[in-house]
Amino acid sequence: MKVEEIFQTYKNYIMPTYTKTPLVFVKGKGSRLWDIHHKEYLDFFPGWGVGSLGHCHPKVMQAVREQVSKLIFIPNNFYHLPQAGLAKEIVRWSYPSKVFFCNSGAEANEAAIKFSRKFGTSTQPSASLECHGERSRTIGGARYEIITFEDSFHGRTLAALAATGQKKYQQGFAPLPEGFKTVKFNEISAVKEALSDKTVAIMLELIQGEGGINVADRDFVLELRRICDEKKLLLIIDEVQTGIGRTGRLFCYQHYGIIPDIVTLAKALGGGLPVGAMLVKKEIADILGPGMHASTFGGSPLVCKAALAVLRAIQKEKLLTNTQGMGEYLLLKLDALKKKYKLIKEIRGRGLMLGAELNMEGASIVEKCAEKGLLINCTHERVLRFMPALNITKKEIDKAMAILEEALRGI
Ligand SMILES: Cc1ncc(COP(=O)(O)O)c(C=O)c1O
Repeated sequence: MKVEEIFQTYKNYIMPTYTKTPLVFVKGKGSRLWDIHHKEYLDFFPGWGVGSLGHCHPKVMQAVREQVSKLIFIPNNFYHLPQAGLAKEIVRWSYPSKVFFCNSGAEANEAAIKFSRKFGTSTQPSASLECHGERSRTIGGARYEIITFEDSFHGRTLAALAATGQKKYQQGFAPLPEGFKTVKFNEISAVKEALSDKTVAIMLELIQGEGGINVADRDFVLELRRICDEKKLLLIIDEVQTGIGRTGRLFCYQHYGIIPDIVTLAKALGGGLPVGAMLVKKEIADILGPGMHASTFGGSPLVCKAALAVLRAIQKEKLLTNTQGMGEYLLLKLDALKKKYKLIKEIRGRGLMLGAELNMEGASIVEKCAEKGLLINCTHERVLRFMPALNITKKEIDKAMAILEEALRGI
């Protein structure tokens, strides 16, 4: 098929739910991608956070090849080794917990929301909450309300969408499930005000990715943990984008010195294969018993083997150290550009999850960079987002920043 024919086929046969860039990719290796015309690109936003090891990492390829010839799928009413191995490895890297496997970030968050609802029917509301004005309506005495944050993003399924603090994603899909209160990010007084006797959980990203690379303040997070302990609420940390090494620790919550009750994961976990996961603190994890939640494809041998290869590569190749070092280097380079170009307002983020907020919309810069062979992203209209692979090198960062500067100069 010729390029124009591919575009036309998409138009005719594929639902138009994505804003698309007119590039057709055929091959990837590490941080490099090649389009159908053999043009090479440096990928600083591999797979929207999926490609933490870059494209086609040899260890992931090897794991998939080996597993595909043994056993691709086995349903969750049986046992298999890759799932057992992966759950054990995730828990070893995190905190005493149990894992539920699914296929995506939205599904992991749906699982967390469902878990919270079940937790709310199994535990008593905290008596101290009654002092917050009038007692609000509860469903059969259960606690079910989740406090979420403005500019958050938790996925496109209905409950995850209701949890998402951005109206633009919700428009046209009413009625959304009830039970979510959205308050200002990094404002503890807003959280306290939103608490009621039906609150069961607080859910947040520690760096809001789709919301514009907004980093949660340390004091804010510590206070959320304290409130959750005091009121017996679940602290749900959505690490779908920040997880698996992106910020220089395997999980972003580890920078804050807290232990969450629930962590959700997806994106980078499978090295390109669809794996989602929810981790729940061990002492409460068995609240969801047989038949209460499920996912047919969740945690198949194939995807678990790929995810195990990802975790091993992060360890063996010392990618957390590389992420810290290269993150600092990229930050320095972006700061230098900010000093030179007035259209950059602020640089923020952590590790290799960095954003440059502009005084203007960023789409044209993204387009210019792509023309010159650099793929980046713009989120929240004005924030250029850089999330290169964790094994990125100085040389690749230098090349990317040179292209970005050329694009900025042309504005
Ligand atoms: C923080 C966060 N949560 C959830 C999701 C949804 O993940 P998925 O697209 O895999 O459903 C995303 C996707 O961008 C995300 O960034």
